Amino acid sequence: MVSKKIHKNYMARELYRKEEVICGNISEYRGWIKLSKFCLELILSEIDNVNTRTELIFVLEKKFKLGIWNKLIDDLIYINYLSDTEVDFKIEKITFDITSKCNLNCKHCSGMFTKKSLGNLNKLLIFEIFKWAEYNNVKYVCISGGEPFIRKDIFEILNYAKNIYTGEIEVITNATLINSCDFDNIVNNIDILNISLDGYDVFSVNKIRGLGVYEKVLDVINKLKQKNFLKLKLSMVKAYGNENHISDFLKLCSFLQVEPVIRDLIYAGRANRNNLSELETLIHNSVLDESNINMRCVCKSGINSLYISHDGKIYPCSTMYNLKNSFMQLSELLSDNCKSRLFLEPIVDHIESCKYCDVRYFCCNTCPSVNLSLYKNEKIVKMICDKNKKTLENIIWNKPSI
Ligand SMILES: C[S@@+](CC[C@H](N)C(=O)[O-])C[C@H]1O[C@@H](n2cnc3c(N)ncnc32)[C@H](O)[C@@H]1O
Ligand code: SF4
Ligand code: SF4
Repeated sequence: MVSKKIHKNYMARELYRKEEVICGNISEYRGWIKLSKFCLELILSEIDNVNTRTELIFVLEKKFKLGIWNKLIDDLIYINYLSDTEVDFKIEKITFDITSKCNLNCKHCSGMFTKKSLGNLNKLLIFEIFKWAEYNNVKYVCISGGEPFIRKDIFEILNYAKNIYTGEIEVITNATLINSCDFDNIVNNIDILNISLDGYDVFSVNKIRGLGVYEKVLDVINKLKQKNFLKLKLSMVKAYGNENHISDFLKLCSFLQVEPVIRDLIYAGRANRNNLSELETLIHNSVLDESNINMRCVCKSGINSLYISHDGKIYPCSTMYNLKNSFMQLSELLSDNCKSRLFLEPIVDHIESCKYCDVRYFCCNTCPSVNLSLYKNEKIVKMICDKNKKTLENIIWNKPSI
């Protein structure tokens, strides 16, 4: 095997306590390593001065003949703290909100979309997004909203996209505005139609999405299947009691012969307003032990996917729309400026009461939206701290290091 140059990963982070340090990669589930500060400092001070892994081991052994360097470097590479390959910034998936307007008013809507328009992405800009996606070899574009079929020019847009973009086009829809005259357009211009039901029978759908939605969705599915359009997905969010009926939802999907999609509830928009007590229960019921803690506290959004809001702002994912500042403007993306600005930072590094805590990366969740809801709320942070800090300290710091 060729020995390559090694570097510290972009997502590598450390937690320090006295003479010890814990190293890990905060976007991976690969585990962590506790070692002496002395060993880590030596590795990091030499890593840029050498050209290969072999040379690094040689230099470390020469300086301090401890007999541990080979295995330690292997382990640090295994957990992705160190790496011999560059981070892949390649965007594989773009999701964009084609409109902010929606005919429904779902209880759990993360976007708080309503009949009142907050603006639409301009049609010509949408064309530019598809051109950019094609040029950058993006595999997959997902159109969402608001309700995409509320736009009068939806098929003009889809038709343009189909002609110039070779990746897959998915549309997420509530399906209630789809009429029989639209079926041929759907068959010809959309690769995957992802319909949201958010329930498993007529009553559960009524509760979240409103009257008549269940019947309409089933009718659209049946008619599209008669047209031989088979790339249909049906989704349900785990909320408002639906989480206890996943098997009923899966049975329905199997009966309809559609692909099931089950989504975790994102605590944003109307869902955030309606669900703080659910978050408190989540914290209350969580049990931490050695088998279920890890340093992963950011997801891969921004590294291989991005989200464009209806007002042309860019975020790693849609749940971050409520932040005051977007990560980038659409015009910057189209002019190809620095995608690495979309990388997520762990929220605990920016919360006053947490930023010096030496278990903080183990404490927080992976989803940026869940983290935002939890850590922006002082009362909830105190609750998490009282519940978790001592347990985490015991598991993480009360063990010998390398
Ligand atoms: C925001 S909607 C937009 C597209 C379309 N109006 C629809 O409902 O399918 C996109 C998807 O996000 C889901 N969704 C909405 N709010 C959510 C939340 N708080 N957490 C998780 N998923 C959510 C919806 O159920 C839907 O499947
Ligand atoms: S989830 Fe979809 S259908 Fe429901 S209010 Fe939000 S945008 Fe509209
Ligand atoms: S809530 Fe407590 S344990 Fe968690 S990161 Fe903050 S200070 Fe640390």
